[in-house]
Amino acid sequence: MTNLDAPGVRLQPVSVTRKMSAALPGLRKLAQDKGLKIHHLGAGYPHPEVTDPRDFLAHQQAYFAYLERQEGVNDPSVVPEYLRESFSYTDTLGPATTRAVFARAYGNDWGVEIDPERLLPTVGATGGINLLCSMFERPGHSVAYITDAPTYAGFLARSMLCQYAHIYSVEMDEEGPVPEVFREQIEKARADGHFVPYYYTVPDGHNPAGFSFSQRRRVQILDIARELGVLIVEDAPYVYISYAQTAERPRPFFAMAPEQTVHLFTGSKIGFPGPRVGFLYSEAELMVADGESVSLSQLAVTEASADILFQNPSALRGFEALMHKRQDADFVERGTFWDLAEGKLVVYREMRKIMLDGLQTGLGGYPEDFAWTVPGAGFFTVFTFKKGGVHTDDDFITRMVSEYGVVVIPMYDFYPKDARRRDPNVGYDQLRLSFCFSESTGEQRRKDLAEAVAAFCEAVKIETGIAG
Ligand SMILES: Cc1ncc(COP(=O)(O)O)c(C=O)c1O
Repeated sequence: MTNLDAPGVRLQPVSVTRKMSAALPGLRKLAQDKGLKIHHLGAGYPHPEVTDPRDFLAHQQAYFAYLERQEGVNDPSVVPEYLRESFSYTDTLGPATTRAVFARAYGNDWGVEIDPERLLPTVGATGGINLLCSMFERPGHSVAYITDAPTYAGFLARSMLCQYAHIYSVEMDEEGPVPEVFREQIEKARADGHFVPYYYTVPDGHNPAGFSFSQRRRVQILDIARELGVLIVEDAPYVYISYAQTAERPRPFFAMAPEQTVHLFTGSKIGFPGPRVGFLYSEAELMVADGESVSLSQLAVTEASADILFQNPSALRGFEALMHKRQDADFVERGTFWDLAEGKLVVYREMRKIMLDGLQTGLGGYPEDFAWTVPGAGFFTVFTFKKGGVHTDDDFITRMVSEYGVVVIPMYDFYPKDARRRDPNVGYDQLRLSFCFSESTGEQRRKDLAEAVAAFCEAVKIETGIAG
């Protein structure tokens, strides 16, 4: 063993989702030995039916051939510009064309004039979270992040790596974070001597809370954030996986106040997760040491250039292909992401309906016992046991797989430590059910999810003593 005696290095507990995927093969075998079918209500992955890379690869190849024709170079010894660029070192900002095309489409969708020079590619939203933590981690200075209770496991995992970082979490009601608690937690963190750079949240299709914040609540939270001088970090993987009518869709924070927000876009749900494409966008200006004012996007570029330094230009140019559509032999910019989203929504809309209808059919007769969220966006609904008596800990989750073949995710681990201190039982009456994933496609996919929800309802009835 090497004794580094490394100051401040601490081992983080393994997240429940990771533990779950590690335990799954063993549990699956146990269930299958009993002749049980495995029902997936756990994985938060994009559905294979809408992430088949083969069509995309053909589309990308045709787009690149189009770019080559546009260059008009007929000499085969000359490497086309797009190809040379795709496989070279690139700038920390990545290819300018990709950013320009993205800025037009995203800006058009959300009514914001996006400056491509303030758009920073990230390694998915995960890379954006990493950057935003690393920007404010300065040895010797304690920092506090405000976030929801519950919050995204990836944010907890990354932010808690730093020994100077603390989390002050905010309980939510059915509209979003409770404004009074939001204010109190910022003030408390400051009174405790921490620097509070931002509030991290997932306002649309909250993972794991399974709902979207109301427009009214967004305004309230934004007002407080402005008044107290705290940025809002808006992680937005599900803005396009939206089930709301256009007129009823709430506005992302960055569309309401780009100067108060850091927006994290990811290509993982609207495109593919594998290529790891994301963008960070902000118009925030910060006061830094010596009273100097500097743009957050500039600080982020500096941080990124000390971190990943070079983007993956090939992945970004591939994403650029996705933002174009064929028009005869040519390609034109889509100018929006909504048509791409529609291609995904045909599946997710259907899956959400199967989930909600199935829960209603199986458990709708027991409103005193059970409740579940109706997600306006995203992949998840949160299921609550209202009467106590069921403790959704690891043993319960294991039993759900081994006895009923149903894979679900417990909620307790998504609550930050301070929320669990306030209420040691928090989350132990909840489960996260996902309706985005199955191993099958088409009719079989529908059948599998309907069976999974029915099996879940049956299991829940047995576990609570209603049935069996
Ligand atoms: C809230 C949230 N943030 C970030 C991510 C990770 O996104 P990416 O693939 O862009 O890193 C996910 C993925 O499930 C998520 O739900």
